[in-house]
Formats: sequence, structure tokens, C-alpha cells
Amino acid sequence: MKSEFEIVPLPYALGAEVKCDDVRALSDDAFETIYQAWLDHLALVFKGPALSDPKLMDLARHFGELTTPTPTEYQAKGMKKREEMDFPLINTISNVKGNDGTPIGGLGDGEAQWHTDSSFTNLPFRASVLHALEIPNSWGGETGVLNMYAALETLPKELKTTIQGRTIKNDLSENSVGWRRRGIPDTIDVRVSPGPSHPIIRTHPETGLNTLYLGRRRYAYIHGLPVDESEDALNALYEHACRDEFAYHHDWSVGDILIWDNRCTMHHRNAFDPEARRIMHRAQTKGTVTYYDPVANSRAPHPRSTLAAVH
Ligand code: SIN
Repeated sequence: MKSEFEIVPLPYALGAEVKCDDVRALSDDAFETIYQAWLDHLALVFKGPALSDPKLMDLARHFGELTTPTPTEYQAKGMKKREEMDFPLINTISNVKGNDGTPIGGLGDGEAQWHTDSSFTNLPFRASVLHALEIPNSWGGETGVLNMYAALETLPKELKTTIQGRTIKNDLSENSVGWRRRGIPDTIDVRVSPGPSHPIIRTHPETGLNTLYLGRRRYAYIHGLPVDESEDALNALYEHACRDEFAYHHDWSVGDILIWDNRCTMHHRNAFDPEARRIMHRAQTKGTVTYYDPVANSRAPHPRSTLAAVH
């Protein structure tokens, strides 16, 4: 009998495509296997027709409890307030403007720097479920995802010693395209700018494995280091982690869904044709308190991180 779905690993450092006739028709049993595949491959791709927001939320619920996107108090200036939206649990990411000239979503058409969703909050998301409704057919707009298990696995020893057991300030002043959030003053000193701290080496609560955990580079700070040493270490960490050998870049078609695990990946979006329309809807699920368990260092590496290390 033909299976409801097939999981096909992508030939990169992470990712698998879930091939199925209709994601809306998959059973709960199928989703148990798909969830494990998500932990194994860090990001999953589904292809098919565009989904309504309720159906997108149904899909996302298989990856945890839904949670609000960036709360209104952290939204960038000039954006429509969350509570004015039809589905407040859906995050619209778009360069399109409504009739009143207000953007219908966030992030515009510029490049979004490498980041981890909501790492500027105390309970960063578990899953991000991003869905393409309109995409440019001229150029740009690909979304890259990085395998942060592999980044940690291959980190030079000296750098690893510098960050072992330390926490990093995940600055909340700006979003990933550099728009300042409402009410946040200019950043003068990275040591006191607003934002929570998380372990730089983070233990994944489900796989039990350690991963490099970084947020937005700008205004980040490694606690306990002089600012210049923190800057040097951060520059080296981002240069190491944000390399193509750890990445999968998704080239979107309308209807695609990309689901990444924010506990062990970073992501990035290429700039795109400002004359074109791009509309993405994202649902996201609740995460848990971040922590570092040194015991996890003695466990065997994540299978996808050894694959990446070979490249
Ligand atoms: C994001 O950075 O969360 C958005 C990704 C995208 O627009 O492709």
C-alpha cells in the first residue's frame, strides 16, 4: 500500500522534503513520524497549494502550542498593531502596503540578517512555520537556514573554550532588517542595552544535544568579557557559523511551507526585487526556558552535523 508521505533528505547540511499529496489530509500518526524527522533534519519543506490561515495554524499545532508573533510592544515602528489583525497568531512578512499606506506585514524587501526567531525574548519559539502566498518571479527572497549543531561541532577549540558556559545578550533594539522597535532608545553601550541573556551553547530540550545559539549579531554581547574581546569572539562566531557548508537555501514557490527548529538553526532572507510583491504567512510555537547541560558534550554528535563536517 502506498504510504501517505515520504521523507526525502535534502543534499545539504540540513533539511528534508516531506512529499505528500495534501498536507491537510495527513493523519496524526503520520505527524508523529514527521515530527521525529523534523528533529533529525532540523527543517522540513512541504510543497502544495496555498493554505488558509486556519489550515496553516492546524499544521503548526503538530509542532507545538501556537504562540503570538512579535508582541505589539516589540513590533517595529510604523507597523499595523497585532491586535488589529484578523488572525493575531499569524505573522505576515511582506513588502506590500495596504490602501492606507501602512505595510501589511514586517521586514520589507531588504536583506534579513542571520538570526533566531524571538531570541530577544525569554522564551524563544520552538518552531517557525513559514508559508509562501505570493513571491517575486524576478529575483531574490530565498530563505537560508543554518545547522547550528554542525556550527558548534566544527568550532575551533580556542573559540569554544572562550564561550563555554557563557551567556550572550540577545539585543532586542532592532529587528532582523535593522528597524528599531517601538520605544527603544539609541544603543550606546552593548552591555546595558535591553534584551534577555541565553546560553551561547544551548542544550536542545528534545534531542539532548548541544548547539551554538546565536541571535542577531548587532548589539550582541558576551557577558563577562571586555567589550572588545566580546566583539572579536562574536565576529569569529558569526563568520564561522554563517557559512554555506552549514546552510540550506530555500528558493520559494507559491504554496511552499518551510518549518525550522529555532533551537538548533539560524535563518536569513535575501533581499528581493522591491517592485515585486512578496507575501508570507508564518505561524510559530511556544518554546521553553533555554539552558546549557555540560553532560551533553559527551554525547554522540547530531547525525546531520557529521554530514556537514565532511564537506
Ligand atoms: C524571517 O527572517 O523570519 C523571514 C524569512 C523570510 O521572509 O523568508
